[in-house]
Amino acid sequence: MQIPPYLVNEHYDDRYFDVVNAIEEAKHVFFQGSGIVDIFSAAGRKRKEFRIGETGFGAGRVLIALMDFLDNSGITDISITFNSVELHPVTFERMASILEGFRAEVGPLIDLLVGAYSSVEITKPGWHQIQLTRPFGILTLNLWIGEALEMVRALTIPCDAWFLDGHGPKKNPSMWRPELLLAIGEKTVRSGTCATYTVAGAVRRGLIAAGFDVEQRPGFGGKKAVLRGIKK
Ligand SMILES: C[S@@+](CC[C@H](N)C(=O)[O-])C[C@H]1O[C@@H](n2cnc3c(N)ncnc32)[C@H](O)[C@@H]1O
Repeated sequence: MQIPPYLVNEHYDDRYFDVVNAIEEAKHVFFQGSGIVDIFSAAGRKRKEFRIGETGFGAGRVLIALMDFLDNSGITDISITFNSVELHPVTFERMASILEGFRAEVGPLIDLLVGAYSSVEITKPGWHQIQLTRPFGILTLNLWIGEALEMVRALTIPCDAWFLDGHGPKKNPSMWRPELLLAIGEKTVRSGTCATYTVAGAVRRGLIAAGFDVEQRPGFGGKKAVLRGIKK
């Protein structure tokens, strides 16, 4: 299939995500992988706060999939903090075109996020905050414009779950370097989790060194396997 040029991140010669099933892929790889599907199931609705970290904000597709999942979860009073980072932020116009393919599934969420993101000064490094009120509660996006390790080090409160979404390790080894994975391990609560689509040996070893027990689970779409980690 021909990939439209706006879906390819020119800095890494890689696309932002699977172009066909990206919303479902996020749910499988990141939400089931990190355990939040179980945590937010009927039995686990006692959480009032939950903190997520993401490496690679891109066009915000994972955040949109997360809001879609939570909107339909039946939860009504949780506060979600979503800490993410982006070294090469896209304009809001480009974000809109990257996400356009999912309009039939999540159109109102695309309009909501693109509208809020249009007020972010993407040329200004450091933290930017967006708050969104949703049926499940409040979502706070803390977006760090800059390098991933800076963002992880700038976090003052550890995360309950991490979504590692920084292009493949071959195309972008910087997002999987041991130093960054170690910092992520330090900024994860005990029994917290991480999830990613790559099962590359270097990523597995880096996550183990960072204090995670890692395991492979079935993949999604064309991928045989994906990875999850649980902080010891
Ligand atoms: C696969 S894309 C993320 C897709 C995104 N989660 C989404 O769903 O739209 C990876 C992102 O990581 C960013 N990135 C790559 N290396 C980075 C680094 N060292 N620090 C911060 N961001 C980085 C890229 O610019 C790209 O937008």
